[in-house]
Amino acid sequence: MAHMRSVLRGRLCGMREILRCQKASYTEASRKETHFGFQAVSEEEKRERVYKVFENVAHNYDIMNDAMSLGVHRFWKDWLLQLMKPTPGMQLLDMAGGTGDISFRFINYIRAQREKWIRQELKFQQDLSWPDISKTYQNKEEGSLMGSRAVICDINKEMLKVGLQKSLRLGYSEGLSWVAGDAEELPFGDDKFDVYTIAFGIRNVTHIEQALQEAYRVLKPGGRFLCLEFSHVNNPLLSKIYDVYSFQVIPVLGEVIAKDWKSYQYLVESIRRFPSQEEFKAMIEDAGFSKVNYHNLTSGVVAVHSGFKL
Ligand SMILES: C[S@@+](CC[C@H](N)C(=O)[O-])C[C@H]1O[C@@H](n2cnc3c(N)ncnc32)[C@H](O)[C@@H]1O
Repeated sequence: MAHMRSVLRGRLCGMREILRCQKASYTEASRKETHFGFQAVSEEEKRERVYKVFENVAHNYDIMNDAMSLGVHRFWKDWLLQLMKPTPGMQLLDMAGGTGDISFRFINYIRAQREKWIRQELKFQQDLSWPDISKTYQNKEEGSLMGSRAVICDINKEMLKVGLQKSLRLGYSEGLSWVAGDAEELPFGDDKFDVYTIAFGIRNVTHIEQALQEAYRVLKPGGRFLCLEFSHVNNPLLSKIYDVYSFQVIPVLGEVIAKDWKSYQYLVESIRRFPSQEEFKAMIEDAGFSKVNYHNLTSGVVAVHSGFKL
């Protein structure tokens, strides 16, 4: 009996030790410092605060994007799609996809290609009767995206909800999936996508290196990584104007339109903290990507980084 009691006590001590270690390592992780804009915070706090920012701004996100960039974000996103050149059958992961802007452009691009393809086919069949022509259209209609699919993945359910409502309103029901997930731990198997995009998302992620490794993992061999992100302005005059605009106008717009100064203050600060074009290029290479390069748009206000999984 005494022996049993001493064995039991020994086991309990062991368990307590394990629990103590687990608690210590958890507390250590949550205490590890990072930044939220210009403030030093724990990693756990950053995750929570980033979540809150996008939860708060979700309903005004699109209107604020237009107001802050004077509509220029549309041009930057179009440019990303021109670089991607979607092809029929392509599988896209639109990471941190928010309200779906990149995926909607992807669908538009595939639809336009399909229209072009139908027109070309009809040109070669000039002697077809009207019923034949209408049949050709109907056949093409069956797979109107020709197997292409975009998966919009975002950690924030509120952003996804707004995006899904927008997709239904604008008639983008086919070829889209909406998935809640963390860029640092993707809910997808290896080698699944042809293209991984992350537009204005990566600077919000706590461990950027981890997100890049996950991007590499889920891409098929030959697949492409494309990141559109705010970057470092390379024109001194524009840089001065941009600084004044960022710190003195954007938070005010945030307050007036979205009643949320703090979220837009964070936005501006997080942009300034993001690595330079060259530093980010090196990080992408470290994750295993090949042929990494970048293009500055609007004198480096944003940059598009590209790399391949070869
Ligand atoms: C500025 S919005 C960009 C949305 C969209 N890509 C666009 O260009 O309009 C940033 C998005 O990143 C998401 N995000 C932040 N951290 C994330 C993470 N760890 N994993 C996935 N998404 C994240 C936010 O929820 C938010 O929807």
